[in-house]
Amino acid sequence: MLAGEVLIFEERGRLLAYAVVRSKSFFGRDFVELLCVGTEERRRGIGGRLLDEAVATASSERIFTSTNESNTAMRGLLQRQRWHLSGKLEGMDEHDPELVFYRDASE
Ligand SMILES: CC(C)(COP(=O)(O)OP(=O)(O)OC[C@H]1O[C@@H](n2cnc3c(N)ncnc32)[C@H](O)[C@@H]1OP(=O)(O)O)[C@@H](O)C(=O)NCCC(=O)NCCS
Repeated sequence: MLAGEVLIFEERGRLLAYAVVRSKSFFGRDFVELLCVGTEERRRGIGGRLLDEAVATASSERIFTSTNESNTAMRGLLQRQRWHLSGKLEGMDEHDPELVFYRDASE
């Protein structure tokens, strides 16, 4: 993958989750483009651990991500992990704005 990094979560040789982090791709800051936990493995804290790892290993002090307003799971996770709302983007998915969040490594 060009200019990117994939964080993976493995357990007993099974890939349970991954995060795609694009280095310096969002106004010069790292951006978590995708975070996905296997359906059977959700609510075990794995998504939170991958997000923490993304923050800890980011190449920028501040790291961003985004999710649709309708994605209650991701919004709940970001709130739990103390990410801050940066803003709302209209015009991507009709009637479902994209919410942008950020977190600082030093927090
Ligand atoms: C969003 C996602 C990554 C969360 O991963 P996860 O491993 O289940 O998250 P965690 O177990 O770390 O959740 C930690 C906290 O987040 C919140 N949360 C997670 N899923 C939630 C849900 N479905 N509804 C409400 N809150 C939720 C809760 O506060 C949860 O803590 P709790 O379980 O003690 O209540 C997972 O649901 C997923 O892969 N979804 C499909 C892909 C996706 O939409 N990715 C995000 C956009 S790229």
